[in-house]
Amino acid sequence: MSHPSIVSEEEESREEIIGLLQGFSKGRENLIPILQTIQKRHSYVSGLAMKLVAEHLEISSSEVYGVATFYNQFRFHPPGRHQIRICLGTACHVVGGDIILENFERKLGIREGQTTPDREFSIERVACVGCCALAPVAIVDEATHGHMAPSRVEGIILGFQIEKERLEREKQAENSEEKELGENL
Ligand code: FES
Repeated sequence: MSHPSIVSEEEESREEIIGLLQGFSKGRENLIPILQTIQKRHSYVSGLAMKLVAEHLEISSSEVYGVATFYNQFRFHPPGRHQIRICLGTACHVVGGDIILENFERKLGIREGQTTPDREFSIERVACVGCCALAPVAIVDEATHGHMAPSRVEGIILGFQIEKERLEREKQAENSEEKELGENL
């Protein structure tokens, strides 16, 4: 089930998606182009978006969902601030890419294709990312982590959490400085 903040964000996009659908005729052949346009605009295709598409094309929601899930190009959850991509191409798979994936899933409490409720992390499986000599590989944001081991998962997540806390502390300090300045004027 989606987090309440994600649900309200989906609701906010309702009008925009309805507007966007007006640019497409009701032909079924428009299904993929419509989903691609929605994903391009919103980074993912929400449950509400699929429902609106179904209404527009006069087909069932389950048909839209079936087509959308058939193609790997669509995501159904908003991407996290930090995107974790686990390579499950052959070279990575044979040296335990799936174990790395499981460790990230367990550590973050989500499954691949999902986003944490605080929107900090999302996990995706990807096909070969082109550096098989470094298998198993995880791409975290822009950084490539080669020869990944389950024991490194905790450290990667912790690094982001420490950074987030540091930024929050800095922001708080800035706010209180500004407040103090304001009071002294
Ligand atoms: S299979 Fe993972 S980098 Fe090639």
